[in-house]
Amino acid sequence: MTEVVVYGTAAADVVLRVPSLPRPGDHIAAEPLGWRLGGSSANIACGLAAAGHVVQLVGPVGTDALAESVVAELTRLRVRTDRLIRIDVPSPRALILLDPDGERTILVIDHRAETGAFPIDDPPSVDSADCIYVESYERFSSIVADRSPDALVVAAPPSGGSRSWPADLVVGSERQYPEEWLASPFERALPLAGPRLRWVIVTRGRRGADAYGRDGSWHVDARPARQVDATGAGDAFAAGLIAGLLAGLEIEEALDLAAAQGAAAVEALQSVPPDWLAGVELR
Ligand SMILES: Nc1ncnc2c1ncn2[C@@H]1O[C@H](COP(=O)(O)OP(=O)(O)OP(=O)(O)O)[C@@H](O)[C@H]1O
Ligand SMILES: [Mg+2]
Repeated sequence: MTEVVVYGTAAADVVLRVPSLPRPGDHIAAEPLGWRLGGSSANIACGLAAAGHVVQLVGPVGTDALAESVVAELTRLRVRTDRLIRIDVPSPRALILLDPDGERTILVIDHRAETGAFPIDDPPSVDSADCIYVESYERFSSIVADRSPDALVVAAPPSGGSRSWPADLVVGSERQYPEEWLASPFERALPLAGPRLRWVIVTRGRRGADAYGRDGSWHVDARPARQVDATGAGDAFAAGLIAGLLAGLEIEEALDLAAAQGAAAVEALQSVPPDWLAGVELR
């Protein structure tokens, strides 16, 4: 059984459907769609758990009542939560505005709970992991990658100014990378990621995604989809890609699986990835 450790944060997404995005002075009637589990790394954890992996989420979680609901939801979605670290702050919440095209606009409500706050210098050691995902090395020490020389180490794109960002695979949307990286993502990432770097993946919404490696790049088109809620497309894509690589697929096949999961994600009214598509054999 493949063991995955996700170093990251879970959030509560509070969702409002709006007829248009508000402009200054507007008065808009919004339809409340309630709250649901979200947060990029929690979404990825849920996608990998749904693929049948044993997934542990390691990271900060609040001590308020909402934190209990977030943890219960993670547990329901088969993510292990016993290594979460209780921190006495309000749980991270995001307000998600969904427009009629299914595009989402995110307002992070309590910035204190965002990446960068609460660096966790000595995260719990998990030595047996086959894969680790790190949401940010500003929050989690790069020790977690050093401790896992044989694991597939996956990280979100580095934030500007980072010096060390160890990863075999960096995956994120074009908006998450420093702009000056986009002309040659692999060469830019290499000094930060180190010699273990294999692929840098840049997702581009409906324009698909590109994987940049040492010897060139691969492109995958986006699959046709009827978008109702774009939230979590990138996370579903990342989970598809990681699950594919863990199953031993080559990069082009893993990209296909990722694009299928990304397309399915925009058709589902949820932040966590959709169920795995029928016929996908992963283990
Ligand atoms: N409307 C869509 N139709 C089909 N596939 C999509 C659609 N939107 C996204 N995808 C798939 O999901 C992948 C990730 O989407 P995207 O690049 O938009 O990431 P994101 O996390 O939503 O970031 P951003 O905040 O930049 O939109 C895309 O590469 C594509 O394969
Ligand atoms: Mg998107």
